[in-house]
Amino acid sequence: MKTINVGLLGFGTIGTGVAKLLLTNSALIADKVGTPVVLKKIADLDVTTDRGIELSPGLLTTNAMELLDDPEIAVVVELIGGYEPAKSFVLRAIENGKHVVTANKALLALHGEEIYAAAARKGVEVLFEAAVGGGIPVISAIKGNMAANNFGSVFGILNGTCNYILTCMTQEGADFATVLHRAQQLGYAEADPTFDVEGIDTAHKLALLVSLCFGTRVNFADIYTEGISSISAVDIKFARDFGYKIKLLAIGKRDGDLVEARVHPTMIPVSYPLADVDGVFNAIRLTGDFVGPVMLSGRGAGMEPTASAVLGDIIDISRNLMAGINRRCAPLSFLDGSVATLKI
Ligand code: HSE
Repeated sequence: MKTINVGLLGFGTIGTGVAKLLLTNSALIADKVGTPVVLKKIADLDVTTDRGIELSPGLLTTNAMELLDDPEIAVVVELIGGYEPAKSFVLRAIENGKHVVTANKALLALHGEEIYAAAARKGVEVLFEAAVGGGIPVISAIKGNMAANNFGSVFGILNGTCNYILTCMTQEGADFATVLHRAQQLGYAEADPTFDVEGIDTAHKLALLVSLCFGTRVNFADIYTEGISSISAVDIKFARDFGYKIKLLAIGKRDGDLVEARVHPTMIPVSYPLADVDGVFNAIRLTGDFVGPVMLSGRGAGMEPTASAVLGDIIDISRNLMAGINRRCAPLSFLDGSVATLKI
């Protein structure tokens, strides 16, 4: 029986979750794919920390090339984060004919065009469900079930760390620095938490959603981005007194040929459903011309939900491989070079 071999780049919080899920639910996954999906190699600079998983000898390496150049590995999972060496590794995996699964929204928001073009040339998939909304299947919804719609808007809460901080500041009266530290310990925050609290991570995710929904890419630098670091307990109290909650929102809208894309703290009436999305939860509201509004919500950060999304992509690719299909999705329409004009 054919085995699908997976190589994992990055053995941090999410990498550990992926390894745990792949090992814990291996029988279920094999059943769904029709063949075993096996973790063949994990590359990370730190191969000594105990992650609480029993790994077979030789599985861990500090040399990413052992995995990227292994002809037996069909799927490379990139969970290093950041731009480099993640970008070089992803491009090398593609060049070697491997399918790629990544949670790296920063990489895709800035270098997605080059990566998707390389994947289209080689006829391999680059899937990134875990890059937006943690465990929420929003990318699958846009590319799959809702694909026949023209999207008018996409907006929501896309950063678990910020939503957790704002929720704890509201409910406990906790101060910003204490809650940020807690979010880091819980594994929600980025390696550089300024990406979370300054809205950059949310803007990365919005860039991906806007590209997918509106079929055009946006220049990341053109997205208006404001974070939550200057929100104080007084702001939260005043908002509350007037019947609002403060949430960090990502907003994408289409208006004819113009696209609006912005990230900033927003006062939301307490009666509005997004106001009830608390803690690490994210929520995304999509509007399609035939389906109307659809709201998705769930845990938007953390080891387990994000691992769940990564495994969904691995299973998708594995099923294709079992069916003899290398690449199922048509290349993204913005690969023709279309760039959105942002409405100010
Ligand atoms: N730091 C991100 C967040 C992780 O807090 O939402 C998930 O993308």
